Amino acid sequence: MHDLNTRNSMQRVIDAALAELDGCHAILATGDLSQDESEQAYRDFARIMAPLDQPVLSIPGNHDNPALMRTFLDQGQFQFCGAATGSNWLIIMLSSHLSGQTGGALSEQELDRMDTLLGQHPERHALICLHHQPVPIGSQWLDGIGLSNGEEFMRRVHQAGNVRGVVWGHVHQEFQSENAGIALLAGPSTCHQFVAACDEYGVEKGRSGYRILNLHTNGRIDTRVNWVET
Ligand SMILES: [Fe+2]
Repeated sequence: MHDLNTRNSMQRVIDAALAELDGCHAILATGDLSQDESEQAYRDFARIMAPLDQPVLSIPGNHDNPALMRTFLDQGQFQFCGAATGSNWLIIMLSSHLSGQTGGALSEQELDRMDTLLGQHPERHALICLHHQPVPIGSQWLDGIGLSNGEEFMRRVHQAGNVRGVVWGHVHQEFQSENAGIALLAGPSTCHQFVAACDEYGVEKGRSGYRILNLHTNGRIDTRVNWVET
């Protein structure tokens, strides 16, 4: 991407994160694990993550092939979509992928699956993960290719009462906001970032990153982004 080998930059991010990964319980990859929907992209991703001990959870982005992800990233330490539990938390991974489209949407089936899971675990704090941003992030071009039914999604998230955070990828930047006590978080890209708060497409070169999410038993989320020079 723009002269950056994204496989190598991802490897550098993982290398830089290794010390911190020691204390982590899981790794979440928020989509666009490929650019070309190729088998090779997922083989490379699996190879780079294989030495790590943690479960690797992933969701599909607009550049992904969900069927291939299920083939290569839903066995052993890898989990594709579905849900996971840990301590008193519930992590729900949703697919907002729409074949052939850059923007995303959640199907009625995915929204219902989320509602059902949240209803089945009312005692757990929940973190919802999806690729496309469900709220505007102040960047016209990116907000035009976000989650088209974000309002309905957020309505259901608020209605559930036990969702503490929503996290997504797609926007290649650090974004952090909050809505009625629910943390709204974007993870940065392991390749280039997009220029934040900019209405037109712009690439910010020079740094890749990852977001640490510390999910406390009382439902609080502490989070920060760590940057790695590319
Ligand atoms: Fe994306």
